[in-house]
Amino acid sequence: MEVPLVKPDLPRLSDIAEPLAEVLTNGKVSNFGKYMNKLEVEIGAFLDVPAVAVSSGTTALILALRALGLQPGHRVVVPSLTFLATAQAVLLAGGIPVFAEVGEDLTMSPDDLRYLLQKHSDIDVVLPVHIYGQPCQVDVIADIVRQAGTGRARRISVLYDAAHAFGAKHNETRLGHFGDAEVFSLSFSKVLNSVEGGLVSSSNPDLLARIEKLRNYGIERNYEAHEIGLNGKLSEFHAIVGLHNLRQFSRKQTIRLRRADWYLEKIASLKDFSIPSMRPNSKHAYKDMVVLVRGNLADKRDTVMDYLKSRGIETRAYFFPPLHEQVAFQRYADRALPYTSEIARRVICLPFYTSITRKEINYVVGGLIEAEERFA
Ligand SMILES: Cc1ncc(COP(=O)(O)O)c(C=O)c1O
Repeated sequence: MEVPLVKPDLPRLSDIAEPLAEVLTNGKVSNFGKYMNKLEVEIGAFLDVPAVAVSSGTTALILALRALGLQPGHRVVVPSLTFLATAQAVLLAGGIPVFAEVGEDLTMSPDDLRYLLQKHSDIDVVLPVHIYGQPCQVDVIADIVRQAGTGRARRISVLYDAAHAFGAKHNETRLGHFGDAEVFSLSFSKVLNSVEGGLVSSSNPDLLARIEKLRNYGIERNYEAHEIGLNGKLSEFHAIVGLHNLRQFSRKQTIRLRRADWYLEKIASLKDFSIPSMRPNSKHAYKDMVVLVRGNLADKRDTVMDYLKSRGIETRAYFFPPLHEQVAFQRYADRALPYTSEIARRVICLPFYTSITRKEINYVVGGLIEAEERFA
């Protein structure tokens, strides 16, 4: 059996034939068209907070950082355990990443954040990541940032990288509401996808208005820019796919969460694999199904992955190497992050997608059991 890491949720051609034919016929294929506008309106209604659509999650991060007023050369706290786009966006927006440890739930460690805010006086933005779909400790982070900001000349903003976490909740509130803004990716591997795309959600209309300008080359009116933006437009083709998927989202999410439960139940009975800790007051989006090798397999992650590959099971070591160990980012890393380094060497993302079957899950977990028998 072959089990891929991801199978994107995509419409059938017949599902979107009508709007596709419409835009192909009338030529209105981009430049903030009808479907992009509909997508923004319906996402805003779903999240219960306004959102602006852009061409990717990376673009959304860059533009949100710029719109929040990140000063060139000022610092942005990011976890080291994340996809490299988080820190790349900081650099592309003119900031300097400061790498933070993660806690047991694999989101940014509040204690380390408190330490970093005491250490650096030029932190403009805190950028935690709802990693794999697990919401960060948003209340604790808000308190820490508020306390650290007292008496500072510049306000510290909080921007969440929610690339993995569309549909997740903290208490009963959907992500999208927290911090000054939240950024989602709509790329094909995400729980809601428009093939490629991104969103910024915020209850601050001025911030969103600035992002709307920045995504259109910074144009103020006619062809005159007052500041430097970029092409961050979401095409109508992408919006049509995104809109279709959004309308299926609640149904698909129920299926996905049920399948996550099947998986988690089976993994819980394994000796040498554990699941990162989860907080009871949050609802995970389960973009990824993550296990940590432990016990006798703790230093045999790559052997386990090679074995699973030989059985047709595709996995990834997300996120290894952690950013502070990567060539592109090492120069911004001025200290060891032992917990992050350890976790990044023990993590495996297993195949997971909305349409995964019980048979496929059983086959993957069977592969993990065989790995325990062979290598532990
Ligand atoms: C945590 C995180 N942030 C940002 C991004 C960037 O999103 P995009 O690929 O849409 O640019 C990704 C992409 O996978 C991601 O995993």
